Amino acid sequence: MDKPRVFITRKLALEPASILGPGIEIDQFDSEDPLPRARLLERVAQASALLPILGDRIDRELLDAAPRLRIVANHAVGYDNVDVLACTARGVWVTNTPGVLTESTADLAFTLLLTLARRIREGERMVREGKWLGWAPTQLLGMELRGKTLGIIGYGRIGQAVARRAEGFGMRVIFTDERGGVPLDELLSTSDIITIHTPLMPETHHLIGAAELLRMKRGVLLINNARGPIVDEAALVAALQSGHLGGAALDVYEFEPKVHPALLGRDDVVLLPHLGSATRETREAMGRLALTDIELVLRGERPAHPVNEVAAK
Ligand code: DGY
Repeated sequence: MDKPRVFITRKLALEPASILGPGIEIDQFDSEDPLPRARLLERVAQASALLPILGDRIDRELLDAAPRLRIVANHAVGYDNVDVLACTARGVWVTNTPGVLTESTADLAFTLLLTLARRIREGERMVREGKWLGWAPTQLLGMELRGKTLGIIGYGRIGQAVARRAEGFGMRVIFTDERGGVPLDELLSTSDIITIHTPLMPETHHLIGAAELLRMKRGVLLINNARGPIVDEAALVAALQSGHLGGAALDVYEFEPKVHPALLGRDDVVLLPHLGSATRETREAMGRLALTDIELVLRGERPAHPVNEVAAK
């Protein structure tokens, strides 16, 4: 009998063979670059398991091209790139990587927050470009964190980890979440800094649009290292251009990896390339969780981190 094959769509932070047993054939696109869609559809044809990243769209077309598939082990905690209902209908498990990226993602949210509030980019550039002529009392004045209100949209593991950091900085924390907290309107109108940590779902697509941005206090700072489409990027640009928003720090984009061109030249914006979980420790742990779930499913067992429920095949 043929060995079951796993197709891995990128280079990982650990060797797949260090987790997968010899009974599984590994096919990997061992690169940081995206695999063109047509090649992805070809490579999944014989796969019993697929390990995609958040940039790979796992939809009906892909599932049709992969008739042997038993598991999609998404290398991310978010799984908005996967049509979970279509997977379930075909008896394909979907798994994610919860827990292991909480601290690294909260660290990065706080890095964005401090970088924006303290105008780190502008200061760094001034020094590197030889434009710093010496200390001055009014130079690059930012926002002090102590006593300010941080509004956290989405109070799951990552939102709570951000709150712990904010408390250490003497901030007052409020949050909104389907499980409680304050109403979104109240959070928008009372926060000095707002940070987004909710998953992308139909209900959170453009959760922050023109109306919500207008409800925010003038000068508010907005942080997003959750998912780009939660914020209407065109409305964000307009709110920055009008001066209503004091600044934005983004790790994610509505049309990732494309960035709205109007954001690129702005000094009141911090832009990172989706680095939330990018520590060696976290990326190794994410790979380990995804590969372990593949091993379990290909052995006929239940995965440890399922996001759907399928009948045994
Ligand atoms: C996730 O896991 O959903 C992040 O966006 C990437 O680590």
